[in-house]
Amino acid sequence: MPLSRRHFLGRVPAGVAATAALVPSLFETATAAAASSVLVTGPILLNSNENPYGPFPSVQAAMEKALHKANRYPDHQYRELVNRIGSYNSVDPAQVVLGTGSTEILKMAADAFTDADRPVIIADPTFEAIGFYAEKNGAQVIKVPLTSDYAHDLETMAGKAPKAGALIYICNPNNPTASLTPAAKIQEFVNNLPPNVIVLIDEAYHHFAMDAPQYRSFLDGKSSRVIVARTFSKVYALAGMRLGYAVSTIDTCKRLRTYQCHDNVNIAVAECGTVALNDDDAMRAAVARNAADRDEFMKQAHARGLKIIPTYTNFAMFETNRPVKQVIGYFEQQGIRIGRPFPPYETKLRVSFGRPEEMTAFWKAWDRFATAKAAFLPGEPIYESSRWFT
Ligand SMILES: Cc1ncc(COP(=O)(O)O)c(C=O)c1O
Repeated sequence: MPLSRRHFLGRVPAGVAATAALVPSLFETATAAAASSVLVTGPILLNSNENPYGPFPSVQAAMEKALHKANRYPDHQYRELVNRIGSYNSVDPAQVVLGTGSTEILKMAADAFTDADRPVIIADPTFEAIGFYAEKNGAQVIKVPLTSDYAHDLETMAGKAPKAGALIYICNPNNPTASLTPAAKIQEFVNNLPPNVIVLIDEAYHHFAMDAPQYRSFLDGKSSRVIVARTFSKVYALAGMRLGYAVSTIDTCKRLRTYQCHDNVNIAVAECGTVALNDDDAMRAAVARNAADRDEFMKQAHARGLKIIPTYTNFAMFETNRPVKQVIGYFEQQGIRIGRPFPPYETKLRVSFGRPEEMTAFWKAWDRFATAKAAFLPGEPIYESSRWFT
């Protein structure tokens, strides 16, 4: 008989029970009857571009079952997932590299393809993780501002690559701007890559953009100089499980794997990944739900006259005309966590889409903030975040 939450809390020490009462726990997630019933406790989280509706019901069931196999190494499940990712994307399984989140893929690429002579070239602003990892290898991080319509300036990026080579990072759609770099531009760029240049195209938000006319995925495993990264943290709602992958040619994947930790994906995660990929209906429903949440966000933003960057993801960025750290500090006081600062933007705010009731709370807080007199706002920005990498 499944444990009720009350019985569960009755069996653990008081301190642990108190924490469990505040933080949405695996227990709550695993016992939720359906994805939409994930419990909301603690602050409203609109800061990490997660899927707020919880894992697919099919995946929750797989997660619970997999825990009983925790005494075994994940060899079989790992292979099964690699094979499924291969068949899902019509590539050979040897062209797939698994990561503990796609963050590990970014780290492997930085380790394999950057050093003191080979910089990483990234947009400004973009998702910074690959830059941090490259820096650790003694590599220079070259930042190229986005164009005026928030696309990657691919020509300038290519022009910055030294003869020794470089790793160019394209985040499409881009985090934090939620904007697209048109597929035709990326194709031209890939066709004319300078010598010794490897390009990593981060498609973390692929599913939310896949129906946009200017977008297409570059995941085909055809070029040894193109690596595509994907994650299960967004549409598949598995951010806490940590699963991502890369697709490239067999040789490039071999090079990436040199920097991979053995058995980097555990047995439960591997099973969840396979079940998630098999549940295309749930994936499509999640995409449709995000599209509805995105439309509503745009409607609310336009009703308030906000200058918002067109979004192709599960988050949006808009101009606040205030120091963004102050905005974040204010929302923190209201129990709502919103996206961190993204220098060089000092006044633009990134907000991840939450569930409708969470967004109602967000807009109410926004309206209070927008009409508040400066004296009522924190003078010094109060701002703290432990999430620097989402
Ligand atoms: C563009 C991009 N790439 C990678 C990641 C990391 O994802 P993961 O949870 O798979 O490590 C994120 C997380 O927000 C992201 O926005």
